Amino acid sequence: MSATKEQHSDAARDMWETTNDDYEKFRPSHDKAGVKALLDRLGVMDNVSQRNGTPPTNDVTAKYDVLDVGAGTGKCTRVIKDVLGEDARIVALDPVAGMIRQLKAAVPGVDAFVGPCEAIPLPDNSVKAVVSSQSFHFYANEAALREIHRVLIPGGKFGINFTADDEKSPLVHGVYELIRKYMYPECPEYYLNPLLDTSWKDCFDAAPLFTPLQEHIFPWENQQTLPDAESVVKLFMTYSAIAREPDVRKECAEQMVKLLTTDPAIKQANGTALEIPRLSALYWCTKNVQ
Ligand SMILES: C[S@@+](CC[C@H](N)C(=O)[O-])C[C@H]1O[C@@H](n2cnc3c(N)ncnc32)[C@H](O)[C@@H]1O
Repeated sequence: MSATKEQHSDAARDMWETTNDDYEKFRPSHDKAGVKALLDRLGVMDNVSQRNGTPPTNDVTAKYDVLDVGAGTGKCTRVIKDVLGEDARIVALDPVAGMIRQLKAAVPGVDAFVGPCEAIPLPDNSVKAVVSSQSFHFYANEAALREIHRVLIPGGKFGINFTADDEKSPLVHGVYELIRKYMYPECPEYYLNPLLDTSWKDCFDAAPLFTPLQEHIFPWENQQTLPDAESVVKLFMTYSAIAREPDVRKECAEQMVKLLTTDPAIKQANGTALEIPRLSALYWCTKNVQ
């Protein structure tokens, strides 16, 4: 069976309505150094620390410091809050109601809405910075960029954070090659590896809404480790690239167990944990005022 990019996105959202518990349990927290580096480039760090009850003059119209779009269960939202502190005015948006339920439980005190990036339920010029963490592949289109542009204040910034698995790792490469065999043929490679296929950037060419994207890519400080092959399978089966029919998912999961327990370059040595090395792939730009 094949699927368009849109059908694939729908399948992933359906999958996460029922598997958001596994998402919350097995996906890692975001690397704090990566989130901090992005927030720094988005110019919100100083703003929050200097506010002390009085908004800086360039911040008068912004209701929020940060909009976390495609926020999921709030894996990045909670790190943003941790970096910026309790005073930070954060709002989160995701189209999957189950993900937003998890986010509200995990990150109390943050405003959170259910909806897609293509229709952000916020007024014009109401946000200082928009952050997209590990989700831009879903809304890499002109409609979403127009909405991000609309809600940003003049001079506001948009940042993208991909938590990219490092394919130099034999484990990641082996699992990715397996997932590629089971992905819908029409599913763009960037759903799995946005560093290998960077065509998600093409949407920025449609209209001059933002300054050119800048980028900075570096390894996480604290990598995720998992205790056994079963947990590694649970993690990768939350990936949208493998949002497929139940029988296809079952076969993929079985093949993954086989790979992780028999491949000499991958299988777990006695008493060691399995590491999933990742990179923070950061991209940022500034709203153009037209
Ligand atoms: C891999 S998850 C990332 C979630 C979270 N940001 C994180 O870092 O864990 C991708 C998220 O994008 C969301 N998403 C899918 N389509 C979207 C759209 N059109 N607009 C905004 N978010 C979308 C999904 O519901 C999902 O929660």
